[in-house]
Amino acid sequence: MKREQWGTRAGFILAAVGSAIGLGNIWRFPYMAYENGGGAFFIPYLFAMLTAGIPFMIMEFSLGHKLRGAAPRAFSKLGVRLEWLGWFQVFIASVIAVYYVAVIGWAISYLGFAFTQSWGSDTNAFFFSEYLKLGDNSPSNLGGLQLHIAIPMVIAWGITFAAIFTGVKGGIERANKIMMPLLFLMVLALIARVIFLDGALDGLNYLFQPDFSKILDAKVWSAAYGQIFFTLSVGFAIMIAYSSYLPEKSDINNNAFMTVLINCGFSMVAGILIFSVLGYMAQEQAKPLTEVVSAGVGLAFVTIPAAINLLPAPYILGPVFFLALVVAGLSSHISIIEAVTSAIIDKLKWSRKKAASVVCGVGFVVSMAFATNGGLLLLDLVDYFINNVALLASCLIELLVIGWLLKVSDIRSYVNSISEFTIGKWFEICIRFVSPIMLAIILGTNLTNTFN
Ligand code: PHE
Ligand code: NA
Repeated sequence: MKREQWGTRAGFILAAVGSAIGLGNIWRFPYMAYENGGGAFFIPYLFAMLTAGIPFMIMEFSLGHKLRGAAPRAFSKLGVRLEWLGWFQVFIASVIAVYYVAVIGWAISYLGFAFTQSWGSDTNAFFFSEYLKLGDNSPSNLGGLQLHIAIPMVIAWGITFAAIFTGVKGGIERANKIMMPLLFLMVLALIARVIFLDGALDGLNYLFQPDFSKILDAKVWSAAYGQIFFTLSVGFAIMIAYSSYLPEKSDINNNAFMTVLINCGFSMVAGILIFSVLGYMAQEQAKPLTEVVSAGVGLAFVTIPAAINLLPAPYILGPVFFLALVVAGLSSHISIIEAVTSAIIDKLKWSRKKAASVVCGVGFVVSMAFATNGGLLLLDLVDYFINNVALLASCLIELLVIGWLLKVSDIRSYVNSISEFTIGKWFEICIRFVSPIMLAIILGTNLTNTFN
């Protein structure tokens, strides 16, 4: 059977960008930057983008394009004993898929709440006690499924399933062609409004003010690299699967640069949006900004709702913000599920419809663990392990295999032969030396910290 193909080049780029731009850009990047030295974070971040992000993206695009398979098949074509690496990545992708969808589900709920700000004034208590029902250990609640969390997750799964089931061009590409322009428009509209609020510029000062003392801190570098791999969706079998649907004639270098730059540019824009809002909030509440910012889950579901309460026309800005979060999350979720589905289609020769049904069905059932009142705890645990260990290990192994068992110069001549502009020797140096060394150091540090 002939492999499916993207309809247009723009369609592929939008899908790759849709995968890359996700929850991570909107709620993870801003607080990572803030926590790790503000403006000074951008130095390790840009370094990681140039030495790891771009080369990695070029490498994965070339693997998928040349070997025409999802990760397990692509790696097995490189050597019979490498198929496991593809399955390991597919496994990580599956784990991400089941908790990522929980956060999308929360965002869908909050999209609903935003019209009337029904989260009330104590957004912290609302999120943790009323919505997630943490600490409610009444027997009727304990271990039970929270339907109000499960239902929005069903909606998210439904949309992902529809896209995957329909196919690469008619489903995934079409979904991204609608979602991505919509996302850009919404975020730009939000910025256009909030940037003029009192205090917004103070917020931006906070974000961009460099704390150079942090630049020699290993934790900051670790955060930058972790963020780059997560944000670009590389090392999880995803970009390999997406690029396996590229037509023969494809400008790999250009596509890779565009995907990385659009994603990282979007992160900056999201950072500006979030910190303008936080600056405004600090001003309104006459508090220092440090008391207003929060990290992680709390940022999107506690702090932002509280800020929305204070905004002009909250019934418009609130829903737009959460719709943006939902759209960003869904386009990434679709890509994660496609990585798994395409691996199964390759291996078991199932039809797309059958594979999509089984993957989404099983994924849905497993993801319900996150719709219980132990969900957040589990999510924190899994998220920590994925970001600090599994992800880095997977990327490191991939780099070592490609960089040292194969000839990286072959990849370089391959992509250069089909791309409009060519990449130099730096590509090989990054893949073989810079990135693996950085990753090994960071992984080592993280492992020591985890087990201490
Ligand atoms: N890149 C996405 C983000 O920034 C997350 C993601 C991770 C998507 C892994 C797919 C795979 O949110
Ligand atoms: Na991203």
